[in-house]
Amino acid sequence: MAKILEVTDLCKTYITNKRQNNVLRNVNFSVDEGEMVAVMGPSGSGKSTLLYTVSGMDSMTAGTVLFGGKDISKLSPNELAALRLDEMGFIFQQMYMLKNLSVLDNIILPARQSKANTLSAKEKLERGKELMRSFGIIEIADNDINEVSGGQLQRACICRSMINDPKRSQDDFCR
Ligand SMILES: Nc1ncnc2c1ncn2[C@@H]1O[C@H](COP(=O)(O)OP(=O)(O)OP(=O)(O)O)[C@@H](O)[C@H]1O
Ligand SMILES: [Mg+2]
Repeated sequence: MAKILEVTDLCKTYITNKRQNNVLRNVNFSVDEGEMVAVMGPSGSGKSTLLYTVSGMDSMTAGTVLFGGKDISKLSPNELAALRLDEMGFIFQQMYMLKNLSVLDNIILPARQSKANTLSAKEKLERGKELMRSFGIIEIADNDINEVSGGQLQRACICRSMINDPKRSQDDFCR
């Protein structure tokens, strides 16, 4: 089975107030297409740091990350942004929804931003609604971000992560 993610000797060090915090020390793992992986550990152990680093959202201190065979450290900022927009789906711990857009517009935003997404504006809207329906939150499509429950907002974030049909493990989920 093809590997979707290959992480080799990944290190991440934060330096705050001249103190060095070696959060990730030589992390090695790979994820196959079709595989589901859970990362577990105590609060502050580096789970979010790992995800930010392997997605290219934050720089790594050392090591290599191959996503779909591409070395993400060799991509230009624009190439990396396009890879994240078109091929990755990311659900943040803090949800980062835009307050001046409705829930549905937040979900569709990555589709509107993507040059690789060839759906028409109407089709993007329909896909956003279809995702919302499948997650049981279609009734909050036109709500503001502050007019929904925490769980509804989390599901909306999942919809947003899937809007551009990212590379993922199981292919029949919400087509
Ligand atoms: N931007 C940052 N600058 C400096 N230190 C940071 C930064 N982000 C996280 N850290 C530190 O790195 C360590 C790992 O944090 P991280 O957020 O990855 O933990 P986590 O495992 O996701 O925790 P939680 O389960 O609470 O979400 C912690 O000690 C944290 O204080
Ligand atoms: Mg975290």
